[in-house]
Amino acid sequence: MSGIKGKVVVITGASSGIGEATALLLAERGAKVVLGARRLDRLEALIARLADAGAEAACARTDVRQRNDLSKLVKLACDRYGKLDVLVNNAGIGPISPLDKLRVEDWEDMIDVNIKGVLFGIAAALPVFRAQGFGHFINTASTAAHRIVPNMAVYAGTKIAVRAISEGLRQEAGDKLRVTVVSPGFTRTDFAESMTDPEAKTQTLASMDQFAMPPNAIARAIAFAIEQPADVDVGEIIVRSTAQG
Ligand SMILES: NC(=O)c1ccc[n+]([C@@H]2O[C@H](COP(=O)([O-])OP(=O)(O)OC[C@H]3O[C@@H](n4cnc5c(N)ncnc54)[C@H](OP(=O)(O)O)[C@@H]3O)[C@@H](O)[C@H]2O)c1
Repeated sequence: MSGIKGKVVVITGASSGIGEATALLLAERGAKVVLGARRLDRLEALIARLADAGAEAACARTDVRQRNDLSKLVKLACDRYGKLDVLVNNAGIGPISPLDKLRVEDWEDMIDVNIKGVLFGIAAALPVFRAQGFGHFINTASTAAHRIVPNMAVYAGTKIAVRAISEGLRQEAGDKLRVTVVSPGFTRTDFAESMTDPEAKTQTLASMDQFAMPPNAIARAIAFAIEQPADVDVGEIIVRSTAQG
């Protein structure tokens, strides 16, 4: 099946930013979206907006660090809508800082959310996709996985891991499953909220003010990958603002 209408799409990290924009765009184009994040109140508000616009949507409180939460989210999609077409592994955090500051808890958090969260998503959806004979993983990396800069060593490491895992998955996937990596540049979202280092946060907010894109730019890239014919696999999309170096 190509196109977006009627597809069942699970999106993690849908309570703000890129995940929220993706939910809105895909629902507008006729997808049934199943949304996960920790802030259930925000997900429920989004579901109400989508329902008002006539879209079908469901949500569940999901912490991607918990394998069982991802299993339950995927099960919700399958129970409610009878199948799963796409899993968008979008949830991510970026508490960046210089390595010298030894913010080791932040390092661990990034590994848990950005790498293990994606792996738990894969573990939840892969058996479903294999049983169905179709399915599409879309994993969110970053331009930080393509150009390494100071302060972003650990964050970039997690996003390079997302690209490596996605490429391995693509090679193992066979001719029925699709795997896409989307690498956003600076995007105007709540991303800086996860930053615990005040200097890194101030710098990031300044860069966002200067040259960030609206999150809808990334949602459109995700929609492009989904709407291709079933035998066309968009491997990787990098989307930057023209002003980003
Ligand atoms: N904004 C940028 O400039 C930029 C650039 C490159 C890549 N990215 C990537 O884009 C993705 C989305 O980020 P964003 O920019 O849209 O930032 P955002 O507005 O902060 O959104 C992050 C989302 O991830 C969710 N999340 C965080 N920890 C989670 C957890 N443990 N379990 C479940 N959900 C969790 C948050 O929801 P809850 O807090 O409700 O759980 C939120 O919905 C991330 O993977 C990020 O690394 C962003």
